[in-house]
Amino acid sequence: MLKNFWWPLEFSHVVQKKPIRVTALEQEFVLYRTPDGVAHVLSDLCVHRGGALSDGWMEGDCIVCPYHGWEYKSDGSCVKIPAHPDMPVPKKARVDSYPTVEKYGYIWAFLGDLPEAERPALPDLPHFDNPDFKVVRGTFEWPVYYERALENSLDAAHAPFVHGGAFGNRDEPSIPDYETNHIPLARK
Ligand code: FES
Repeated sequence: MLKNFWWPLEFSHVVQKKPIRVTALEQEFVLYRTPDGVAHVLSDLCVHRGGALSDGWMEGDCIVCPYHGWEYKSDGSCVKIPAHPDMPVPKKARVDSYPTVEKYGYIWAFLGDLPEAERPALPDLPHFDNPDFKVVRGTFEWPVYYERALENSLDAAHAPFVHGGAFGNRDEPSIPDYETNHIPLARK
């Protein structure tokens, strides 16, 4: 069930032409950019003999498996099998590819199996470009149950004391009144 969401797999600036591996939901993905600068997410498992595409390289628009040189387009289809240049590439020679969006400084991929019309929209962050707000971004690895991590993130009163040197201010520890609203997941 959790797979049917947009997942921020990596910071935008980390994803470049050289393929990289990212693990999410206990699956391996390869992230890279084609020469037009567009980011892509594929399964990191070559369908030939399981080579890791993240150890491969780019040839034009294609990512090349380092094991036997099969070349894949960003839609996951294999377009070249160097050992058999005169044979048509079988249709089933393809890896999974994932809808990918670059936004808010992240590469997001939809890892689920819902058709496009049924996918939830990317989270809306209307204050992201507002200069009156400070965007705090980072990698946090907490060996805790995810509910505790979420609970801590929503607990604004701890910020002045635990994060006083970063985005908290001990001289202003009060929390103004606010209302919470339930916003149903929007569909595209
Ligand atoms: S394992 Fe990828 S080309 Fe053979």
